[in-house]
Amino acid sequence: MARTQVAIIGAGPSGLLLSQLLDLAGIDNVVLERRTRQYVESRIRAGVLEQGTADLLTRAGVDARMKREGIVHDHIGLAFGEREERIDLTAHTGASVIIYGQTEIQHDLFEARAARGGTIVFEAEDVTPLDFDTAAPRVTYRKDGLTHTLDCDVIAGCDGYHGVCRASVPESALKTYELVYPFGWLGVLADPPPVSPHAVTYVSNDRGFALCSMRSMSRSRYYIQCALEDDVAQWSDAAFWDELRRRLPSSLAEPLVTGASIEKSIAPLRSFVAEPMRFGALFLAGDSAHIVPPTGAKGLNLAAADVRVLADALAQFYGEKDSAGLAAYSDRCLRRVWRAERFSWQLTMLTHKFSDDDFNRRMQVAELDYLTSSEAGAKSVAENYTGVALEAAEG
Ligand code: APR
Ligand code: PHB
Repeated sequence: MARTQVAIIGAGPSGLLLSQLLDLAGIDNVVLERRTRQYVESRIRAGVLEQGTADLLTRAGVDARMKREGIVHDHIGLAFGEREERIDLTAHTGASVIIYGQTEIQHDLFEARAARGGTIVFEAEDVTPLDFDTAAPRVTYRKDGLTHTLDCDVIAGCDGYHGVCRASVPESALKTYELVYPFGWLGVLADPPPVSPHAVTYVSNDRGFALCSMRSMSRSRYYIQCALEDDVAQWSDAAFWDELRRRLPSSLAEPLVTGASIEKSIAPLRSFVAEPMRFGALFLAGDSAHIVPPTGAKGLNLAAADVRVLADALAQFYGEKDSAGLAAYSDRCLRRVWRAERFSWQLTMLTHKFSDDDFNRRMQVAELDYLTSSEAGAKSVAENYTGVALEAAEG
């Protein structure tokens, strides 16, 4: 029978970053992942890092490539109708964001764990957290046809929204909050240079939402709001570019360079929070505890914030024999989570088409006008987008 201090379930960004930080603090851990490394590394997700997330990657020693290849953005674009406005992040908050794909972070984390000889069990089947409400928690799993038991002090549930950890908690011990939006995002990754290499631009149009983003100076990422029942196979590249162009103000539509898609997929949008984030020795972190719609680019940043609080609490627990940080974990994380939920929800409600209701549309445009032309309005967007207002929430 094997034993470790912290059993980490899931090798996404949350699980690997936690594993790395714990290892650096001298805390023994094992990561159990259902999929292969290749599968985990090929998932394509957002790539806007708050400064606090970038700082945590530095602390974890996985910042070399991010510092070389990441692109610092000091503003975001907000376009509506023919207007293309900008919110100056740095002028309002002193902070900026870094564009560096989550796929790259995932790769850097795998390399870092390998370099330090970390244990990651890939293709672990039937991973089951057990006895986490007792003093002797354990995790069982199957690998190559054999059943294994991993005894531990703490189980970290970093297994995403569809994972086993949250589902293992008795229903009566958990309160969940959820909003499912009535549309999805159709995303395309392509190799023409981004239409604006200096900003991520959120576009609210009478025809629906669009987003112009990037991965590098030569790789673009675009999204358009689509119907939930749309099939990605029905969307040819030409149809995608055509619809995108129709939603952009001419200042962006004209310079837009199109090309063959490298990846095309539809993602649903959801707001979700499970409370509390701790049950005895089981701690949920990242997408296993909460989901935000991608509009505010908060998913990865929230996951990193949870991991920072958990890694520090575990260092205090093992180093100083003090469990105060672990006791405070859920409340500390949730305050930030709810603020990020609010911002992501607000930006989603403000920029997407929910109906043909003209009054509703005028309200959206009036609010976008206010947020982009008033100091107070712009500052509130900048504080939330950079995460400055969310840091404050941790107290
Ligand atoms: N057993 C073992 N591993 C599992 C199980 C299970 N039963 N269920 C899920 N996993 C693994 C998944 O295969 C995945 O690799 O857990 C990992 C969870 O990773 P993510 O879904 O990426 O979640 P997280 O690490 O919290 O990352 C949050 O990712 O989804 C984005 O927008 C989100 O940026 C945010 C970040
Ligand atoms: C992306 O680049 O994929 C991206 C950027 C900003 C978002 C969401 C996704 O809010």
